Amino acid sequence: MSEPLKVAIAGLGNVGVGVVKILQQHRELIADRTGREIAITAVSARSRNSNRGVDLSNYTWVDNAADLAQMDDVDIVVEAIGGEDGIALELAQNALKNSKSFVTANKAMVAHHGALLADLAQDNNVALRFEAAVAGGIPIIKAIGEGLAANQLSLVYGIMNGTTNYMLSQMEATGKSYDEILEETDALGYLEADPALDLDGIDAAHKLAILSSVAFGTKTDFDNVYIEGIRAIETVDIAYGKELGYRIKLLGITKYENGTLSQRVHPVMIDRELPIARVMDGFNALVVDGDYIDRTFYQGRGAGEGPTASAIVADIIDIARGHNGAAFFKPSHKLVDAQSVTINERQGAYYVRLHVEDHAGVIADITTSLKDANVSVETMLQKGTERDGTVYVIMTTHETRETAMKDALNRINELSSVIENPLSIRIEKL
Ligand SMILES: NC(=O)c1ccc[n+]([C@@H]2O[C@H](COP(=O)([O-])OP(=O)(O)OC[C@H]3O[C@@H](n4cnc5c(N)ncnc54)[C@H](OP(=O)(O)O)[C@@H]3O)[C@@H](O)[C@H]2O)c1
Repeated sequence: MSEPLKVAIAGLGNVGVGVVKILQQHRELIADRTGREIAITAVSARSRNSNRGVDLSNYTWVDNAADLAQMDDVDIVVEAIGGEDGIALELAQNALKNSKSFVTANKAMVAHHGALLADLAQDNNVALRFEAAVAGGIPIIKAIGEGLAANQLSLVYGIMNGTTNYMLSQMEATGKSYDEILEETDALGYLEADPALDLDGIDAAHKLAILSSVAFGTKTDFDNVYIEGIRAIETVDIAYGKELGYRIKLLGITKYENGTLSQRVHPVMIDRELPIARVMDGFNALVVDGDYIDRTFYQGRGAGEGPTASAIVADIIDIARGHNGAAFFKPSHKLVDAQSVTINERQGAYYVRLHVEDHAGVIADITTSLKDANVSVETMLQKGTERDGTVYVIMTTHETRETAMKDALNRINELSSVIENPLSIRIEKL
């Protein structure tokens, strides 16, 4: 067997400890598969004295994680700290500059600085890998970059945030409100330290920006991802969606056509019978379309210690096998600046929920507003009067432009009988 591959791990929380566990427990299995021993040589985290439930006594403890980038007996730095900038980015840049391969689970950092890091890896002839940053339990980056490498890809979409998928699933299963389910989800420890990352779709957008680059060879462009989260979804929408044959999912959708890139994360209503509509609870799922494969579908756990660490160790094994090809599967100078398509250019149908006073003429006013905005209604349901004399009006529209729908909603919102902001959800035919 050749020389052991020496690994340093920065960050010993859920993910970092998961990596230590796999490398300890599957040491022989991995060495057999790789033809090379993988040895942890150094570790770093904030507090040296925490009991992390794993034996770290054989590894050099380093107080300042940034120092791992300079150590002689380190071939690969694994970063499991987090944050788009700060220590994680400093470590990434220094490790790559010092010709050490770099493996990370940090989706925020790769979404914001992917192109820069890919350049550094290429200039220094080392590997940059981030399978764990996108749906850890699903080897989607490898699937796209290797298994599907013969294809021109055109569309990637999926459920990229397990926490919000869990919440929407629980709202449907229990009929409980968004606020109740949010409280329960928080108690289970499923939310990110900053819950906005989950609830406002930012975490999913980080992953989508990475997938766009991997799939289409474009430069990571997080700033042009349209992002909307799930905070406005209520149990009534889930129930009315069901009556109409739809299920609500928070999807990330990225499309590349003729040099233009459309990236968006928002709740959608989709046919309940679609395979992706049946993916419930904490699972992630991804769909990739290519010219010679038609459609492929992947499902698995997107987060948690095990799936995330499994993806990191797979990346380490890849490097141990001598693979140090381009991070985005193309030389970094060939990554293109795609022209970005805004959400205003979307064309499609919409679900709309209005909460209005229940008196004569209200429906006529709504219909006039829609007509004036050139939006035509496909179905309209009026749901029984509430005790306070208000009523829900639920509509779906025919295909229309996003700008027309926004115009219609602004007009409707100005009607005195409308008592809360209208909610619209895009209906996607996928
Ligand atoms: N958890 C998941 O399911 C998951 C899934 C996919 C991707 N990720 C990504 O993986 C990364 C780590 O996530 P995690 O869940 O493992 O986080 P975590 O449990 O909060 O662990 C973070 C670790 O980083 C250490 N740390 C913080 N600041 C540091 C600093 N300045 N210098 C050195 N170490 C520092 C902490 O040290 P102490 O322990 O001493 O405080 C801790 O060990 C993030 O980028 C996250 O987005 C996580």
